[in-house]
Amino acid sequence: MKVCMVGTGYVGLVSGACFAETGNHVVCADIDESKIAVLNRGEIPIFEPNLDTLVERNVQAKRLSFSSDVGDAIARATAVFVAVGTPPRSDGAADLSAVDKVAETVAKHVKHESVLVLKSTVPVGTNARVRRIVADAPHRIHVVSNPEFLKEGAAINDFMRPDRIVIGCDADDEFARDVMRRLYHPVTLAKERIIWMDPASAELTKYVANTMLAMRISFMNEVASLCEKVGADIHQVRAGVGSDQRIGPKFLYAGPGYGGSCFPKDVKALTHTGTEHGLVLELPTATDRVNRRQQGVLARKLKQIHFDGDLRGKRIGIWGIAFKPGTDDIRDGPALPLIEALLSEGAEVRAHDPAAMENARLEFGDRISLFEDAYDVAEGADALVLVTEWREYQNPDFAKLKSLMRGSLLLDGRNIWSGYGLREQGLVYDGIGVRGS
Ligand SMILES: NC(=O)c1ccc[n+]([C@@H]2O[C@H](COP(=O)([O-])OP(=O)(O)OC[C@H]3O[C@@H](n4cnc5c(N)ncnc54)[C@H](O)[C@@H]3O)[C@@H](O)[C@H]2O)c1
Repeated sequence: MKVCMVGTGYVGLVSGACFAETGNHVVCADIDESKIAVLNRGEIPIFEPNLDTLVERNVQAKRLSFSSDVGDAIARATAVFVAVGTPPRSDGAADLSAVDKVAETVAKHVKHESVLVLKSTVPVGTNARVRRIVADAPHRIHVVSNPEFLKEGAAINDFMRPDRIVIGCDADDEFARDVMRRLYHPVTLAKERIIWMDPASAELTKYVANTMLAMRISFMNEVASLCEKVGADIHQVRAGVGSDQRIGPKFLYAGPGYGGSCFPKDVKALTHTGTEHGLVLELPTATDRVNRRQQGVLARKLKQIHFDGDLRGKRIGIWGIAFKPGTDDIRDGPALPLIEALLSEGAEVRAHDPAAMENARLEFGDRISLFEDAYDVAEGADALVLVTEWREYQNPDFAKLKSLMRGSLLLDGRNIWSGYGLREQGLVYDGIGVRGS
């Protein structure tokens, strides 16, 4: 099938490459000409494990190509996916201007009956809104909602072996259902994974899933703060709670607050949808408030607990800037407010990340020092802070760190060093709600 993916970011590029891998002819289109030029040179503009070989294989097989002529790419396709960004506006609502723009472009360029698939995360009512935009197009455009659940860092596997594929589509729209069924057939062969529903329910499902996960994290972060007050240990509490099959062990890890381009914005957007309909959604509102406070926890610990209220002249090493391991994405991650707080308090920041150095450079310029070797960050540092639990940080050479640092504080934002007996090695250890090491 001829597919056009409009928006070639984390979602569009991965989805486009995966649809090409499963035999479709895919054009990934984007208004960002520099991004398309990078892709046409054979380079990948984002870090996502194994994406480079997947893209290369499908480009060589002539099933995948890239274009900044969005209209032309749309005209040829039977299925046009919308995978553009839907960032938060200042009031928390999703900014749908890019989605509207794509819908207008589709209505203008469509050359035959086709399906317009909303893959971007969009609030309830967007499917209906897009239908209105394309209503007068010269050919019938079927509008389907198909929110994406892939996780950065594991995106290809998530696309190829999804837990579920949510498709919001009119029950009697056989044309759209047939197109969607055929597109997803290769990834549903082993097990039926499509959950058909109406478009509004599909739109809401995505926000509810992300907010549910974010809520678990925020709750455990609150519990971690309580652990510190009452002398309990979050590891032990997590193990005890997560072994209940009704609860399960995932997304129960205390840390420096959730980040990324999805959870923060989706929680806010869900709250906003409630407000628009006269409902105060208390839990998402609190989830966001707790997270914003939690994103300040590492800076607060450094200043108030470890450095007597004064960070001036302190040299702080940071391990991890990406919002999670496996990606170069730093958007809304906890490293950002941490670094800003340290700089505003007069500290010197040295940092390392295995994948996000370029994005960190764009974000901070020369306000922080970035090092290719993680251990260089510790040189002369008063404290080393672990923000992202990349594998290479999980079992470092602590003796080497101690010899490089001028101070001895290891602040472990992910609680992964708590079992190493660091205090016996002359280091000061602190984590999030852990009794320690
Ligand atoms: N990143 C994730 O892990 C993830 C997971 C699931 C869902 N989502 C959702 O998917 C959507 C895309 O997210 P992303 O992280 O891939 O965003 P992104 O910022 O990485 O990519 C969006 C792309 O859309 C392009 N674009 C913007 N307007 C355009 C237009 N009018 N025509 C063509 N291209 C245009 C941009 O240039 C950019 O390359 C968002 O709604 C997001 O919430 C993201």
